Amino acid sequence: MSGANFLQLHTLDVPRGRRVSWLVERVRTALRDGRVEPGTRVPPTRALAEELGVARGTVVEAYRRLTEEGLLTANRGGGTVVSASPPPPTAFRSREPRAEPDLLDISTGTPDLSAFPRAAWLRAEEGVLSGSDGRALTYAPAQGTLALRTELSSWLARSRGVLAPPDRIIVTGGVTGALALLARVLHDRGRGTVAVEDPGAEGNRRILAHWSTPTVPVRVDQEGLVVHELAASGARTALVTPAHQFPTGVVLSPARRRALLTWAVERDGLVVEDDYDAEYRYDRRPVRALHSMAPERVAHVSSLSKTLGPGLRLGWLVAPSDLHDDLVRARWGTDLGSPVLPQLALAELLRSGALERHLRTMRTRHRRRRDTAVRAVAEHLPGAVVEGVAAGIHLLVLLPEHVDDAVLAERAREEGIRVEPLSSLRAVPGPPGVVVSYGTHPPARLAAAIAVLGGLLRRP
Ligand SMILES: Cc1ncc(COP(=O)(O)O)c(C=O)c1O
Repeated sequence: MSGANFLQLHTLDVPRGRRVSWLVERVRTALRDGRVEPGTRVPPTRALAEELGVARGTVVEAYRRLTEEGLLTANRGGGTVVSASPPPPTAFRSREPRAEPDLLDISTGTPDLSAFPRAAWLRAEEGVLSGSDGRALTYAPAQGTLALRTELSSWLARSRGVLAPPDRIIVTGGVTGALALLARVLHDRGRGTVAVEDPGAEGNRRILAHWSTPTVPVRVDQEGLVVHELAASGARTALVTPAHQFPTGVVLSPARRRALLTWAVERDGLVVEDDYDAEYRYDRRPVRALHSMAPERVAHVSSLSKTLGPGLRLGWLVAPSDLHDDLVRARWGTDLGSPVLPQLALAELLRSGALERHLRTMRTRHRRRRDTAVRAVAEHLPGAVVEGVAAGIHLLVLLPEHVDDAVLAERAREEGIRVEPLSSLRAVPGPPGVVVSYGTHPPARLAAAIAVLGGLLRRP
């Protein structure tokens, strides 16, 4: 076979240093396209080199590489034959959500990241690293560093009424990490199905599904989770957001709190308390965590995602004693625990009071942003009803019945705004709405985004 036929080319215009890899790729393509069948003899190196006007060594090296890949074989009777066709190139498709940098995102509940206490954090890291003991750089207990667990123990007692000694706290990769651990341990114990709030946090549901945990939606009304419907669901674990239900913003009423804990006792069940944004309460002190009422029935989980930033991937889990050891083992079996340096930096922020000062600043900033959002909704979205204003960093905006919130969100995207339609958080259809997260953007941008939604609603 002539080289020209083989490669379907007659001239070579490739820089000298790239000729081998060029030739390898051309041969691969010829094999892949089926132009050359397995068993076909390829041109002798000298002949092909002459035809292409390249050094013979170039062809020898190219054949050597192709032989190593298993595409060519040296024939016993002399010469080289095609041994296999290469698989078609894999189209690598990213599984990351597509980055849409130009979208003004009011759907993601991040806090005001521009207010991150950079100076305090850097000082804390510097302090940790300047110690000569190397403790920031070596292995720590998978459960979390003792320094952080000690600080968390007193912080959780002060801020949330959660009473847990350091050895009962597990440092996790955020709420998500805690839920993944719980899902695995509960699955191993054969108590898989988890009741989730409807509407509720999509991310939590997805992570449970990822760990093969069946979920059953249970309705949320003006008092929070409807506990008698939970009882009818058959689930023995309930994942709830009692301090500020996501997305409705409802605070679980005292009667429902009691009913939920009674259910847990009667059913020998477990309540997983996702305390994700409880630090933000604008009208009075935050309600105490459910955990404080029944530590042996409630697994308390929370994180830094709404206070410092979700990128830190730091959170914590305090679970009933019968689950604790298995959860620690699961934490160990995952990745030997969270990175040590940020744990120690956080411990220092807690110890020095810097985190508490930061939270005071954040409450003021977020309250201002919330007020802006509420005003902008009143101005631009007539007929809308705002719920869940007393706490957290998002609002639920209920829209007039005729609005299709998914269509609105899609049209908003075309206008450069990302907003979460309430329908995407529901298992059972209900009134339309959108979740407006107000922590992320300065007031003017936030108001502008809401004005765009208003414009879309007015358009036919
Ligand atoms: C209800 C709820 N729980 C938890 C989280 C935070 O998860 P993580 O701590 O894994 O970042 C969020 C984040 O938006 C949330 O909405």
